[in-house]
Amino acid sequence: MEIKIKDTEGLAAAAQQFIEAMGERKVFAFYGKMGAGKTTFIKAICEALGVEDVVTSPTFAIVNEYMTFQPSLGGATDSTEFPLKGVSGSIFHFDFYRIKNLREAYDIGTEEYFCSGCPCFIEWPELIEELLPEDTVKVNIEVREDGSRTIQMD
Ligand SMILES: Nc1ncnc2c1ncn2[C@@H]1O[C@H](COP(=O)(O)OP(=O)(O)OP(=O)(O)O)[C@@H](O)[C@H]1O
Ligand SMILES: [Mg+2]
Repeated sequence: MEIKIKDTEGLAAAAQQFIEAMGERKVFAFYGKMGAGKTTFIKAICEALGVEDVVTSPTFAIVNEYMTFQPSLGGATDSTEFPLKGVSGSIFHFDFYRIKNLREAYDIGTEEYFCSGCPCFIEWPELIEELLPEDTVKVNIEVREDGSRTIQMD
């Protein structure tokens, strides 16, 4: 599917469309050039999922964890139902731009994060391609000449 984002004002609506398209899938690899808008779009998705902490690029930390208490993902109507849907309150946001080698990625426990059942949003996945689960959803972000963004996902 394709989602178009005209400008930053269109981010919230685009994030909502993305969330509807996520289904039960958990691991999303965001491909796109430097400055394409990966962090910006992931931030919008996290906000739409109910994250209240500030979502910033985890470039220096490799992985950031955010908490959400809004059960948007499981479609449950209150937070007590939330764990029953198999979705915990955590969202993981990775940026592998500064990763030096696969070993380093492996050592931070990527496998456990990816298998946690929590949503995982990954920037610069090409640097750890071998460690991505088979069912990782590929998301492509492209910048158009007019500055609008086109998001493509399976
Ligand atoms: N949909 C959008 N519409 C307009 N401007 C945008 C949009 N998305 C991102 N931008 C702008 O583009 C710039 C780069 O965005 P962002 O940091 O999200 O890119 P990135 O893909 O994460 O880059 P990097 O590869 O360095 O991590 C920011 O100044 C941001 O405000
Ligand atoms: Mg970024």
